[in-house]
Amino acid sequence: METLVFATHNHHKAKEIKNVLKGKYHVVYLTELDLYEEIPETGDTLQENALIKARYVFEKTGKACFADDTGLEVAALNGAPGVYSARYAGEKASFEDNINKLLLAMEGINNRRARFRTVMAYIDNQSNEHLFEGKVEGVITTQKRGEQGFGYDPVFLPDGYQENFAEMSAEEKNRISHRAKAVQQLVKYLKSI
Ligand code: IMP
Repeated sequence: METLVFATHNHHKAKEIKNVLKGKYHVVYLTELDLYEEIPETGDTLQENALIKARYVFEKTGKACFADDTGLEVAALNGAPGVYSARYAGEKASFEDNINKLLLAMEGINNRRARFRTVMAYIDNQSNEHLFEGKVEGVITTQKRGEQGFGYDPVFLPDGYQENFAEMSAEEKNRISHRAKAVQQLVKYLKSI
């Protein structure tokens, strides 16, 4: 089975993607390669950040690798927190801090439309770069619901479902998530070459 390096330190994401690619690719992430450095996410767009991370890891490992960058884009907040989703409530903000800030910002706002968007950058072993995208549309709920997942999952209700992301099993979320869709685009591409 071919090995792909996933340029992340986030074990939640690594677990999700290992699940999606199970049986097709052997996915290793940075901690498993003893790479502990933080990769600076200095871009102003999801695309730039995904490329920064993938290029950094390709230079370190010389192996085919991919990186994702995800943002929660809230319509009534003009797309915020977007590329700044991780640090919405400050540099060292916890998931809880970010959610609380979002719920406060949305107080009294009726338009609760939002989407998660993931951009995935893939660099093959000849250093060719490719970009893929996955989105899931939904609304920001007024209350936190559920204990699963991470990040903004407790306040995101995807369209067509009764359960917030944090109320779904990992399998269910992985079937419909922004990251799963982006990785499916990547897999489709990998199968086509
Ligand atoms: P990253 O830059 O791709 O790590 O994502 C930025 C931030 O978006 C994370 O710190 C989370 O707060 C949030 N995020 C990313 N993916 C998800 C998800 O699947 N569910 C909920 N929040 C997410």
